[in-house]
Amino acid sequence: MTEEAFDVVVVGSCMTDLVSQAQRLPRAGETIHGHKFFIGFGGKGANQCIQAARLGAKTAMVCKVGRDYFGENYIQNFRDNGVSTEFVGQTADAATGVASIIVNDAGENAIVIVAGANMLLSGEDLQHALPALSRAKVLVCQLEVSPDTTLQALRLAQENNVKTIFNPAPAIPDLDPDFYRASDVFCCNESEAQLLTEMAVASIEDAGHAGRELLRRGCRSVIVTLGSQGCVVLSGQEASSMLHHVPTETVTAVDTTGAGDSFIGALAFYMTTFPEMPLQEMASRANQVAGVSVLKIGTQASYPSKKDLPSKLF
Ligand SMILES: Nc1ncnc2c1ncn2[C@@H]1O[C@H](COP(=O)(O)OP(=O)(O)O)[C@@H](O)[C@H]1O
Ligand SMILES: *[C@@H]1O[C@H](CO)[C@@H](O)[C@H](O)[C@H]1NC(C)=O
Repeated sequence: MTEEAFDVVVVGSCMTDLVSQAQRLPRAGETIHGHKFFIGFGGKGANQCIQAARLGAKTAMVCKVGRDYFGENYIQNFRDNGVSTEFVGQTADAATGVASIIVNDAGENAIVIVAGANMLLSGEDLQHALPALSRAKVLVCQLEVSPDTTLQALRLAQENNVKTIFNPAPAIPDLDPDFYRASDVFCCNESEAQLLTEMAVASIEDAGHAGRELLRRGCRSVIVTLGSQGCVVLSGQEASSMLHHVPTETVTAVDTTGAGDSFIGALAFYMTTFPEMPLQEMASRANQVAGVSVLKIGTQASYPSKKDLPSKLF
């Protein structure tokens, strides 16, 4: 049994990325030679958890992997990053989630995701993790595990006065309205905001309008991330809601994969460490953390630790 309460509990996905780089993408039935291969740790849930842990949050991951090599390897990755694996389940009924990714020299890609064990994360697993979940400071969820399990986790958190961050990614068009009501912070990117609101989101102003619509659906606060333009933050009741554009420093991005997950992991860290800080200040600092993550190749491999960041962020 867990002695100490966790700052951040993530209920979400783990995926092993199998990345092959080739001059071009193969056609159906074709075999081609590539020039580079690497294995990376991914999955939105795990990415967000690892970023929060690297900043110094006490974290636990609630997820499911296979009883296979990739599953064992992922559990070791959590340990190496100081994430509690007490609630990482292993199943013999499915393989660890994998994303097979082919990237061509123009930077275009073709991806097949087999979610595998991720889809077997169930209400029973949440019950097993309830002692940790109910005492956490913040719960973070995405949509890469079953939506039913995700909504159940958010509801359990709410019942226990645990703050929730919900990242509706990958977005589904007919999201159950209860997801909005169960979100203290509803955090998505431009394409997700567009899909969910059916409003065009191509500018800061558009993001504000879409954010207002998401807020109207019952979230306490909304953040729409805008890549190199930072994010917009909205909170409060409809009539008196506050909207802030939170810009960020311009950097020369090398690889923006997983930047949104770095942002959300950082946000979870700030919500637990400085609970009284205004949300736009947390968002400003999360922009700076995510901004560092785009300077290096890789997903988790590019996420900064506390020691890599200026002390003014802490
Ligand atoms: N080119 C960039 N320069 C600086 N910060 C960036 C850049 N791209 C992304 N970021 C940071 O990462 C966050 C998430 O990026 P975004 O592209 O909106 O998310 P996603 O990874 O979901 O597509 C942004 O809000 C910003 O803080
Ligand atoms: C938003 O995130 C999704 C993953 O959920 C990604 O496929 C998409 O490219 C992102 N959109 C932007 C504008 O970054």
